Parts: sequence; structure tokens; C-alpha cells
Amino acid sequence: MEIVILPSTREVHATAARIIAALVRARPSAVLGLATGVTQRPVYEELVRLHREEGLDFSGVTTFNLDEFAGIGRDHPDSYYHYMNQHLFRHVNLQADRVHIPDGLAADVDRECRDYEAAISAAGGIDLQLLGIGEDGHIGFNEPTSSLGSRTRMKTLAPGNRHVITMGIATILQARRCLMLAWGERKQVAVARMVEGPLTAMVPASALQLHPRTTILVDELAAAGLELIDYYREVHRNKPAWQRERDGV
Ligand code: GLP
Repeated sequence: MEIVILPSTREVHATAARIIAALVRARPSAVLGLATGVTQRPVYEELVRLHREEGLDFSGVTTFNLDEFAGIGRDHPDSYYHYMNQHLFRHVNLQADRVHIPDGLAADVDRECRDYEAAISAAGGIDLQLLGIGEDGHIGFNEPTSSLGSRTRMKTLAPGNRHVITMGIATILQARRCLMLAWGERKQVAVARMVEGPLTAMVPASALQLHPRTTILVDELAAAGLELIDYYREVHRNKPAWQRERDGV
């Protein structure tokens, strides 16, 4: 795992947007895995700005969102489709047929989940999966005790018993690159457990320890619980120029 500690929250967002934009420019048919949450909003805001001001072209890009609430439709204000539409889709030139979010109203949920996995494979797999982390270490809607081998499926959230459809942990691990963002004190413990704790279903994000190419962008507050913080800074300071070029950070 590559840990990049950035001087401000703003830098976390700007760096993530820069990495995504570089991928889209280099590979106009890129397949992006997208996430929701407060964390990602400024990233989408920056991508929209790059589209408007610098002509960043999404016309050939395919997207797959991590998760969605079940039992509500796309137009529902709580749906992740609504979030994505508000913050990204309606502002850029993504083609509607290349945008994928699990259908919360699917009559046959098992089939919807199988089809979602099949669509990811048919698109050639995800080039870059954007991720946020929950305070309990969840990724997508894979809460503690989710199987590390899980694929897209329906889950029931512990608080509130809400049904959701989420990519599984194994689905996420198949992305060619994972880009995890976390900022603020609220995420300190989760970040430390993800990076330095044991690999365990109790901290689903710890599964990223198995991923060959995960970049974790954190601000100082989110990084403050890391035991090897000085080592991560040192490694990053000494990162060869060609690797910086390749990774965008
Ligand atoms: C939700 C989403 C996750 C997200 C997490 C953290 O549970 N399903 O994908 O990473 O919240 O959200 P936030 O960025 O708002 O802290």
C-alpha cells in the first residue's frame, strides 16, 4: 500500500481528481469505479471544473458505482444515483449507457448482482476504483464481518436494517488500481487499522493490504494514528521521479 500524507484536505481532493483526470486523458475509454459520501464530493466538483474549463472528455468513459440503496429508485433523493447525478453525471459528457449503478428496484436482486459483475467483466474490468472508508473500516457497504471473498450482493446494514446492494470486497480487489481517500480526525482509527492492523473481516478495508496497487491519500489528521508515519513520509519523499509520473503522486 502506498500511503501519501498530504498537507491539507484540499490537497487530498485535488490529487485524487488529478489522478483520475490523467487516467481519462491517457485512456479515453477508461473504466472508473466510483464512490459516494461526503469525501468524494469535492473530487467530483474538481472533475466537473476540469471538464468545463479544460475540456476533460468523459464521452468514452465507463463508470461503475460501488453501491446503492435497495427499495428506492434512481429519482429518490436518498439514492446514490441521485447523488452521482447531482455531483457529476449531469455536469459532464458521460454517455448514459456507460454509467452503471446497481438498480435498487430490481425485481430479481440476485440476477441484478450477477449482471452487475458480468457488466464489469464485459467492460474489461475497472481501471481505477475510487474509495472512501467508514469509521468502522467499511468499504462500499461491506460492513465489518463481510466476507473478504464477497462479490456484488444484497446486504442489510446493521444500523436501521436498510437493504443495500454493494460490490463485494473481492470485486473491489479486482480493480487494477484502488485510490482510497480519507481526511479528518474521524477517520484516524479506521485508517490505522486498514493500513497497519491485521487483515480481518472486522475491518473490511484491511483487505486492501492484498491489493497490488492501492494508493491511500490522507491529510495530516487522518494519518495521525499511523505508527509508521515517519517511514511513509520518508518513502514518499524519496519516490523516484518516474514513479511519481506514473502514479500521479
Ligand atoms: C457510505 C458509503 C461508502 C463511503 C462511506 C464513508 O457508507 N457506502 O462508500 O466510503 O459512507 O462516507 P463519507 O465519505 O461520507 O465519510
